[in-house]
Amino acid sequence: MSICVTGGAGYIGAHIVRLLRRAGHEVVVIDDLSYGDATRVGQATLVQLDLADTAELPRLQAALDGCTAVVHVAGRKQVGESVLRPAWYYQQNVGGMANLLLAMEAQDVDRLVFSSSAAVYGQPKAERVREDIDLFPINPYGESKLIGEWLVRDAARAWGLCGVNMRYFNVAGAGWDDLGDPAVLNLIPMVLEKLSEGSRPRVFGEDYPTPDGTCVRDYIHVIDIATAHMVALDYLDREERPFAAFNIGTGAGTSVRQVIEMVGEVSGLDVAPVTEPRRPGDPAVLVGDVDRIEQTLDWKARHDLRSIVDSSWRAWQSGPRRVMP
Ligand code: WQD
Repeated sequence: MSICVTGGAGYIGAHIVRLLRRAGHEVVVIDDLSYGDATRVGQATLVQLDLADTAELPRLQAALDGCTAVVHVAGRKQVGESVLRPAWYYQQNVGGMANLLLAMEAQDVDRLVFSSSAAVYGQPKAERVREDIDLFPINPYGESKLIGEWLVRDAARAWGLCGVNMRYFNVAGAGWDDLGDPAVLNLIPMVLEKLSEGSRPRVFGEDYPTPDGTCVRDYIHVIDIATAHMVALDYLDREERPFAAFNIGTGAGTSVRQVIEMVGEVSGLDVAPVTEPRRPGDPAVLVGDVDRIEQTLDWKARHDLRSIVDSSWRAWQSGPRRVMP
């Protein structure tokens, strides 16, 4: 019996695939390879298809044959892009989830771990966000993730799907040097790219109501994300496994300036940043309350900021865009 990982050729998905394989599971990866890299999936079976393409439903159902559970990571995740292309984000993220659930129901695959996002919270007032607050996403990316969560809930009610929604905070780092984040879309790779260009890192706004004026986020190591998915799969095998959403974070906030300073410490480089205007839509603080996952799944993040940044640096320097001495 296998476990299916959609998006398993991507940054986060490849870490989940590698842990599953090392735990002895057979793994089927479904990925359209628009961002993923086939070499990342190792010995797992790779089925290349676009989940959002309804014409692919027969192949999708065939790919799920013999699977006992799905970890659904595939999706578009760029906030800025979602604002410019909302319909495409709904087609990809919501349409892809709908097709996946249709195929799972047809194949009696009734366990699903869904890669959701802290983006469903929008700009909450709380210093630490609990899963049960009202959800007001502020961009089409976060909206598409919230609708995905509703689809999981509705499938649980309609045909008994056992699902959990995993709300990622800011994922970074690399579990292995060959699995670094290939996209330059988030703070740490964006800082490293500037250093590779011989430029100064950028700080988008330093007039926020935070201790050093820069935005605060909950940075979580990608290998902690992957281990949280392993325990979520075990949770779905329990007798009692009520449908739930879980924050995956550390519960600790780190500012942009602190992250950049840590890059300087681990790299030994001059990382003095240049301050630019605020980026629209950035909440000042977004940090997860992680009591529920710690108590329910007995899981806790094990990697600190230094480990995150050091692993990002090592993976970056092992790749083609390394910072030259
Ligand atoms: C973090 C902070 C920027 C680059 C992400 C994505 C998505 C989602 C939630 C899972 C912000 C600042 C950035 C730079 C900077 N995760 N920044 N200089 O915006 O919190 O959202 O996490 O679904 O990955 O939505 O992450 O890394 O883009 O930015 O000052 O060069 O760093 O303004 O305050 P964000 P981010």
